[in-house]
Amino acid sequence: MDVKGQVIAGKVAKILIRQKSGERIELGDLLVVDDEDGYSIMKVYDLSYGSQLQKSVREMIAGMELEGHGGDLSFFEPELRNYIIAEAASLIHITSDGTKKPKGLPTFFSSVQLVSGEHLKFLIKPKNPLYLGKVRSGSKVLDVDVFLDATEILPHHVLVPAITGRGKSNLVKVMLWSILDQDRYGILVLDPHDEYYGRHKQGLKDHPKSDHHLLYYSPNAPTGTNTLVVHLETLLPRDLSGIVELSEAQQEGIRLFYNHFEEKWIENIVRGAELRGVQEQTTAVLQRKFDTFLGVYVGNDDNLHCRNRAFSNTAGMTTVRDITKALEEGQTVVMDTSMLHEEAELLIGSIIVRAVFQNHERAKASGELGQMPVVSIVIEEAPRVLGETRGSNVYSKVAREGRKFKVGLIAVSQLTSLIPRTVLTNMNTKIILGNEMATERKAIMESAAQDLSMDNRIIASLDMGEALVSSNFTKFAIPIQIPLFEDYVKEQTQGKKSPDAKTSFAGVDME
Ligand SMILES: Nc1ncnc2c1ncn2[C@@H]1O[C@H](COP(=O)(O)OP(=O)(O)OP(=O)(O)O)[C@@H](O)[C@H]1O
Ligand SMILES: [Mg+2]
Repeated sequence: MDVKGQVIAGKVAKILIRQKSGERIELGDLLVVDDEDGYSIMKVYDLSYGSQLQKSVREMIAGMELEGHGGDLSFFEPELRNYIIAEAASLIHITSDGTKKPKGLPTFFSSVQLVSGEHLKFLIKPKNPLYLGKVRSGSKVLDVDVFLDATEILPHHVLVPAITGRGKSNLVKVMLWSILDQDRYGILVLDPHDEYYGRHKQGLKDHPKSDHHLLYYSPNAPTGTNTLVVHLETLLPRDLSGIVELSEAQQEGIRLFYNHFEEKWIENIVRGAELRGVQEQTTAVLQRKFDTFLGVYVGNDDNLHCRNRAFSNTAGMTTVRDITKALEEGQTVVMDTSMLHEEAELLIGSIIVRAVFQNHERAKASGELGQMPVVSIVIEEAPRVLGETRGSNVYSKVAREGRKFKVGLIAVSQLTSLIPRTVLTNMNTKIILGNEMATERKAIMESAAQDLSMDNRIIASLDMGEALVSSNFTKFAIPIQIPLFEDYVKEQTQGKKSPDAKTSFAGVDME
């Protein structure tokens, strides 16, 4: 046994361990300590100096060294008298009967070692594996894969919070790759940076099963993929709610246009049609809004045009239906919205999500929901639609009620504090990457499945790709290292080692 230190004092939430000289215990390390009926895994939350020497003596020794009176100080037996104390708390207790929440203290004076794959053998692979990365102890990566069960976590929403550039999109790409060939999940990716499909670099298109499981929609689609063009008639006034800012007069104007012109309401607004009850000025503002957000205007030829070609009054009648169908067949649909105005992206998403939601509501009513795949929507910068100041929209509806209908969100967010607490608490799995902003960490920790109050400093210091997985479906918050997508793809496609062949994490029964 590779002893790292020894338990010397403490209480349940703060077990004190003296570090063995020559060993190095890090913040976030997972340590193992044996006890009467098994062993416990502890996590290191803080480090401090300990010394047998009085402060004045230590000051004198430092002074002698600094001022050149060093000489032979070995009689102080530095490795015995000066040491590092690690503060740790138990995460889980493992016995021959299974795993339990830690309730007691480890045996006094017992020695501790670094966690190894052997200690994590109780972690079993879930039935529907969704890959996240490997178990991490401090900054050391263990060869133990971490999976969650996609069927469990996706309908209950996943939140990926972190400041910019910490690897949020990279993580979501890894997750989606790992379930791409399973047809029990329909995934809609609204991709404002066109980074998921991999048009110019590696991406989901490189998955060996992408032919049958992946669809790509883009306003300028490469050969063999699909043109993202949505017929204006598929857009309903309620799709705008909580996405496009409208005054009361404008909302009323839209209602009247819709009542009068039905599915041709947008076309008539854009053409500046006169309508009783709607002031000319209101129509003009709406005209301008549709021009800005959708890029739709009347050309010199008197036809309707769309600057980014994503909306049309002649083409795209089946787009929403096709995408919805693909999702219901368990495919992954990536929509390149990089050329679209933010509102246009959210509106197209809104039409599709509304259609999916209706299908699932109907299926539930007729008792057929069990046969339907889980549909999950990846939304980057989620506060755009889930933010406190946003009115209700279909995305917030999914966040609040989706799980009853097997529709969930994978919400990527830099500013979690803008999302209402009730919505955050509903997001049962959080994959927390590094975050230096205290207010953001607070919002994330307060709504997490486990008590992460002691992880505050650890979250602040997470490096690229390092994360903490806190979920109702894990028994403790698991520290992980997410692979770089490109490395993961290489490993997967070169048929080296499949992560699912190994010990891996899953929900474990625990008292
Ligand atoms: N797990 C990882 N391991 C190593 N490098 C990574 C990892 N994740 C991300 N990176 C590196 O960091 C870069 C940024 O990652 P990514 O685009 O996923 O960040 P992000 O959080 O989505 O950023 P943004 O807020 O800008 O969307 C990647 O291009 C990659 O080079
Ligand atoms: Mg990103």
